Amino acid sequence: MRALVVYESMYGNTRAVAGNIADGLRADYEVTVVPVAEATAELVARADLLVAGAPTHMHGLSSTSSRQMAAQAAAKDGSELRLDPDAGGPGMHGWLKDLGHGDGLATAFDTRINGVPAFTGRASRPIAKLLKRHGYRLTAAPASFLVSSQSTLLDGEADRARRWGMTIAAASKTYLPAHA
Ligand SMILES: Cc1cc2nc3c(=O)[nH]c(=O)nc-3n(C[C@H](O)[C@H](O)[C@H](O)COP(=O)(O)O)c2cc1C
Repeated sequence: MRALVVYESMYGNTRAVAGNIADGLRADYEVTVVPVAEATAELVARADLLVAGAPTHMHGLSSTSSRQMAAQAAAKDGSELRLDPDAGGPGMHGWLKDLGHGDGLATAFDTRINGVPAFTGRASRPIAKLLKRHGYRLTAAPASFLVSSQSTLLDGEADRARRWGMTIAAASKTYLPAHA
């Protein structure tokens, strides 16, 4: 069975979480992890499970302007923020809009600031909604992984992401034929 983990990341947190989820999935799946720019239709078509994640920007998915704001914040004198190698790439929202119809399994995650979701927002919600709109069946509730206000992943979140990967791998088995 193949899983494709697609992420958007400006500062590397969502990329790191994607890698940890992939490690958890590897118990049951052959896993490919790619930034949005490399998530081709061919990779999507070959995947039995699609896992999509992005940082929460302005309570939801990033936009061109929020990504510019993120890049400007990193460029400020004295900033400790470092741009991810793929930060200049396209965002998750555009990728999801162009995603073809799929009848496979999928799930969504995000990174966001540690706080009450009603105040922080969660990018995983619109990701899940768009995946469903394209015909995907969600195997698990969308998940958030938390960062500090300085945008560093909180202690324990990498491990939690790995465990979540194992959980969604196990949950997905109940949807797949026994031989898969
Ligand atoms: C422009 C911008 C807007 C943001 N808006 C929110 C927000 O509304 N809610 C939230 O929880 N975090 C927000 N954040 C924090 C990011 O979600 C958080 O830093 C995330 O972990 C970054 O992921 P990345 O390192 O993969 O880019 C925002 C960050 C930026 C740069």
